[in-house]
Amino acid sequence: MRFTVAIDGPAAAGKGTISRAVAAHFGFAHLDTGLLYRAVGARMLDGLDPVEAARTLSAGDLGRSDLRRPDVAQAASRVAAIPEVRAALVAFQRGFAGREGGAVLDGRDIGTVICPDAAVKLFVTASDLVRAGRRHRELVETGVETGFDEVLAEMRERDARDSARAEAPLRPAGDAVVIDTTELSIEAAVAAAIARVEAQLATVPRG
Ligand code: CDP
Repeated sequence: MRFTVAIDGPAAAGKGTISRAVAAHFGFAHLDTGLLYRAVGARMLDGLDPVEAARTLSAGDLGRSDLRRPDVAQAASRVAAIPEVRAALVAFQRGFAGREGGAVLDGRDIGTVICPDAAVKLFVTASDLVRAGRRHRELVETGVETGFDEVLAEMRERDARDSARAEAPLRPAGDAVVIDTTELSIEAAVAAAIARVEAQLATVPRG
């Protein structure tokens, strides 16, 4: 069975947590597509040309320990605005989405560009203050020394760049279900996502 769940949304909205929980619940594979752009961004910071970095991306690049750093997030958002970088990453993402057994992909353009025919499309969002609070906590827990205001400013800059770019901008697909997690517990947000997938799966003929 091929069954794609597309989960998009701005930075730190809870896409990752929801995607992992949905994938674990249904036994689907999960791809965090932000990691692809973060790995290209990290390679650009190493001195590589970003288009070349995207074209030669390897599994090892995705396992780098520095991908969650705020400077790498900014670099990711800069390289993500380059059409040739995005083009170099399309085939891998579509291949992953089409695998047997179901797949969850999270990012910015999964429901709009990568998988416009996804069985389920979710757009996960929250107020920027709540998102910055969550990201600040995550970063501090992993040992990054940063302040709330700095995290908020970084996130706003990145969201603005991601939304304004000409190529595959951040926006909900017309047929996406919006989950606003500003006042939802993570359990409630995960339950809403699972219910949506469950309802759609029930319509798939079993053979
Ligand atoms: O974890 P967070 O939501 O902060 O970011 P991410 O999902 O790891 O994505 C990092 C950056 O990669 C984003 O700010 C986007 O610029 C870019 N990205 C993208 O353009 N398209 C995607 N499908 C995924 C990420």
